Amino acid sequence: MIIVVANSKGGVGKSTLAVHLAAWLHAQGHRVSLADCDTQQSSSEWIREACPGVVAVRLDNPDAILNELPLLDQETDYVVADGPGSQTETSRALLLRADLAIVPCKASMLEVRALAKATEVLRQAQDIRSGVPKAVIVLSMIGRNYRLTQDMKDAATSLNLPLAHTSMVLRQIYADAPGQGAVVGSLGARAKEAASEVDQLFREILPDACKSRSAKFSREKRFAATRK
Ligand SMILES: Nc1ncnc2c1ncn2[C@@H]1O[C@H](COP(=O)(O)OP(=O)(O)OP(=O)(O)O)[C@@H](O)[C@H]1O
Ligand SMILES: [Mg+2]
Repeated sequence: MIIVVANSKGGVGKSTLAVHLAAWLHAQGHRVSLADCDTQQSSSEWIREACPGVVAVRLDNPDAILNELPLLDQETDYVVADGPGSQTETSRALLLRADLAIVPCKASMLEVRALAKATEVLRQAQDIRSGVPKAVIVLSMIGRNYRLTQDMKDAATSLNLPLAHTSMVLRQIYADAPGQGAVVGSLGARAKEAASEVDQLFREILPDACKSRSAKFSREKRFAATRK
């Protein structure tokens, strides 16, 4: 499965989400690769330190993305692609290959309104590929006591994009994590809330990827096989 973290707006939390997702999928027992498609190439360095078990690859042009993503997809269970903040052609190549797009968005009306523009390439890809990639918006860097206003819900609905129930709260620990070469899940007690938030978010978005779920599924399959 190829999952792209995409929003053509810069600084909305794409790399933070992509690195945490790759590390979470690895912790669930999957083979994971992270395709760093941003020219800044910060997420590949970060994941190498934070979770060396994830295969980190830099793909910095549309041809490399179109050619290499399917190969990575064959070699690993999940490919997480960290998209760029601008470069439309790179985003287009990613969205033409992805099965799922996660769209982080800062939680303000201005940002949500800008989403129509920021997700234009996504809609083109969905149009060409009959609805693929599926997409979900994740609100990022929200205030602790933030309440989603009806305006924002309406704006997301009008774009025909579902909104994840779980959001990523604005917390210093997320900003500190790359400097420590770590993800919040390995930063101990002070990152407890952030760690449980990302766990909850990824369980919500990818229920079939959960360790407990996969174990239960294989138990059920074994049980069914013994009854045949
Ligand atoms: N939930 C959060 N709480 C606090 N800081 C955050 C959070 N998410 C991201 N940040 C910080 O905000 C900045 C931008 O985040 P990030 O680099 O993940 O965004 P991006 O969308 O990948 O940016 P770009 O478009 O430049 O690649 C970084 O300094 C990051 O550490
Ligand atoms: Mg980035």
